[in-house]
Amino acid sequence: MAAALAEQRKRQLGILASVAHDLRNPLAALKLTVDGLRPDRPLPHEERLRSMLARIGKEAARCDRMLTDLMDIARLEGGELELRRETRDARELARDVVELYRPTATAHELGLSLPEEPVPLCCDPIRIEQVLNNLVANAIKYSPAGGAVQVTVARAGAEVSIAVSDRGVGIAADDQRRLFERYFRAPSSSGVAPGVGLGLWAALRIAEAHGGRIEVTSAEGRGSTSPCGCRPRRAGRPRRISSSRVRALVLCELSTSPPPRGPSASTQPGRAQPETDLGGRGTRPPTRPGLPHGPAYLPQDRGHLARRGRAPTSGSGSNRGVRRGQMTPKTP
Ligand SMILES: Nc1ncnc2c1ncn2[C@@H]1O[C@H](COP(=O)(O)OP(=O)(O)OP(=O)(O)O)[C@@H](O)[C@H]1O
Ligand SMILES: [Mg+2]
Repeated sequence: MAAALAEQRKRQLGILASVAHDLRNPLAALKLTVDGLRPDRPLPHEERLRSMLARIGKEAARCDRMLTDLMDIARLEGGELELRRETRDARELARDVVELYRPTATAHELGLSLPEEPVPLCCDPIRIEQVLNNLVANAIKYSPAGGAVQVTVARAGAEVSIAVSDRGVGIAADDQRRLFERYFRAPSSSGVAPGVGLGLWAALRIAEAHGGRIEVTSAEGRGSTSPCGCRPRRAGRPRRISSSRVRALVLCELSTSPPPRGPSASTQPGRAQPETDLGGRGTRPPTRPGLPHGPAYLPQDRGHLARRGRAPTSGSGSNRGVRRGQMTPKTP
């Protein structure tokens, strides 16, 4: 008991130290920018002023997001994640996430493939979108060369799956084993884009809280498919959707009641891609009030990925496999 408490405290202090460290970056940028607006100095020209104010707003929003995510981590660590379940059409959730990223992920083709019929899902929609956000953000940022990123909603019997696929740098077989560990970042992709290594860790816990899970398949150097799906607790394994570099599958409970009325399902004209045609390069996800961007605080702007150039040459492409998230939190 004492050892467990000590371990928990150590973890919490570790998180606090990381956040405190990472908060210094946006705060330093804020200080520098505000310094240029000191009262004893003449105001810059309007264009420069607007740019500085935009910078201030951006850095303030980043601090805010980091603190919000910190609270999320604490809740997930303590197993106190409260789900506010309601019945939603899984197609709407997937569509919302794709629409969120589409304006800024200009180097990528974000494809959306939806069934014609509603896919009622009993879930906390904010949390499921949080999971999907991280998967789509990963697909984009770890595909620095651009290309297709595909989100596919499918229903098979009592099972719902939401798959996110890309054709980015992929994940080596050895690294796939550790994907859901806290703070883990694969060496092959950590240089491609900034990140903390908490997104999948938190996403898995959210999926599990829904009775679902996340599976990732990938072949390094050939893109990745992260099928992210939600399925019933009693259901069998999620179905494999395609083989690309990374695919995440989220599985959640189907609802027995009809979903609320909403826009009818449709694929994005001219945008939907076959599931095997995945990939992408990304920019920062746009912000949307009330929608957490990820389960983890982000010490750096996620969207710098696309501006970092091409991914390093990847491996042989033979490391294809499926990795399933652990049921209990792991600490590296
Ligand atoms: N689609 C993908 N393609 C290649 N590698 C991936 C992909 N998704 C995840 N990874 C690897 O898994 C690691 C863990 O992903 P995770 O989302 O948890 O963290 P992150 O993206 O590094 O940071 P953040 O906490 O901001 O999400 C990544 O650092 C990356 O190495
Ligand atoms: Mg991530």
